[in-house]
Amino acid sequence: MSVKIELLNPSLNKKDFSCGAAMLDNYLHTQASQDVKRKLCVVFAMFEDTTIKGYYTLSNASIPADLMPEAIKKKMPGSYKALPVTLLGRLAIDVKFKGQGLGGILLIDAIKRSFSVAGESLGSIGVVVDPLDEGAVAFYKKFGFILLPDSGKMFLPMADVALLWL
Ligand SMILES: CC(C)(COP(=O)(O)OP(=O)(O)OC[C@H]1O[C@@H](n2cnc3c(N)ncnc32)[C@H](O)[C@@H]1OP(=O)(O)O)[C@@H](O)C(=O)NCCC(=O)NCCS
Repeated sequence: MSVKIELLNPSLNKKDFSCGAAMLDNYLHTQASQDVKRKLCVVFAMFEDTTIKGYYTLSNASIPADLMPEAIKKKMPGSYKALPVTLLGRLAIDVKFKGQGLGGILLIDAIKRSFSVAGESLGSIGVVVDPLDEGAVAFYKKFGFILLPDSGKMFLPMADVALLWL
């Protein structure tokens, strides 16, 4: 059976997922399905058979224009005080499967999905993440995310996605 990345569905075993960050584990165990029902986010799972190896969430968000680096800000109309972005709210790989490149595969899937939606049905100038710790910052940097000043957030412009990943 090969690894798939699809919307979270009830046949998958959520309760045994363990990534080492209790907040991200608890979210999948208890809250993810309800958030999907309420349309707060979508949840994609990477799985083999019924085993969830990783997951991520996407939702709409906006970010104050003042947080953007000058090079990006100057390309935007000054009338936009907040800019539309895609929030990669959570991304995690089960500890049993870390260090095998799966986090990168999952992240690229999230980026490509965000880019294709932004190109077709919803405005979004880039993907934003809130990294949990320094390890996560290093992980996201590898994939082209930049730190936004004074916020702890990281950002990957859609314009870079077109250059880097497509
Ligand atoms: C961060 C996380 C998703 C990485 O998953 P993973 O499957 O182990 O990552 P990969 O094997 O795909 O690694 C991809 C690249 O990122 C690097 N990387 C991964 N974790 C890293 C870390 N903690 N520090 C520095 N670099 C890291 C890898 O070395 C690799 O680089 P390479 O291609 O040059 O070898 C995973 O460790 C995790 O779920 N952590 C807990 C939750 C978390 O922090 N989520 C992100 C913030 S919400």
